[in-house]
Amino acid sequence: MITVALTKGRLFKDFIKYINEQGLSQYTEALEDEGRSLYTEINNIRFIFAKGKDVPLYVESGVADLGIAGLDILVEDPADVLNVSALPFGECRLAIAGPPGIQKIEKVATSFTEISFRYFTEQKQDVEILHLHGSVELAPILGLSDAIVDIVQTGTTLKENGLIEYDKIMDIQARLIANKQTFYTKEEEIYNFIKQLGVF
Ligand code: PRP
Repeated sequence: MITVALTKGRLFKDFIKYINEQGLSQYTEALEDEGRSLYTEINNIRFIFAKGKDVPLYVESGVADLGIAGLDILVEDPADVLNVSALPFGECRLAIAGPPGIQKIEKVATSFTEISFRYFTEQKQDVEILHLHGSVELAPILGLSDAIVDIVQTGTTLKENGLIEYDKIMDIQARLIANKQTFYTKEEEIYNFIKQLGVF
């Protein structure tokens, strides 16, 4: 039995679409049926549904053998895991956005404080970083910050809130991560699953 940590956010939809394309409908049907259940078992693989930001910890600790997480999460809060491979879904970007016509960015709201701090430090811009846990688009609208650093995928959220994208900080896609020990001790099971995923 191997355990795979997934997240039920946007990556989950992309993951389901991807494994459907790989012809793995036995997984998609069961995964989609799960409602609010936090784990399920299919063909001797246990899937757990964690918050995206928690996936690396489940994998690092060995509670999960494999995990699928966005590169944003892995860069923001690095974990001691094997970075097995990029996956061909979950493409989006981390970008600076704000209302049109910003003259100077002095305050930025974001849930990606580490990446933002590094970015503005490299740019030699003295910026105050405010940590929000979600709906960061509200901050510049309400005057809490001048701009935001956030995930942009389709651009719809920015557009619907009257914000525009200024600069891209990094491209993001889903990544497959693995526990450093069980990747070798459960090599066969892990390899079989990864092969089904079409990663190797
Ligand atoms: C992310 C991000 C934006 C939105 C961008 O939030 O924080 O709000 O997606 O996507 P778009 O460009 O396709 O509109 P998400 O829905 O992942 O939820 P979160 O607020 O929990 O991060």
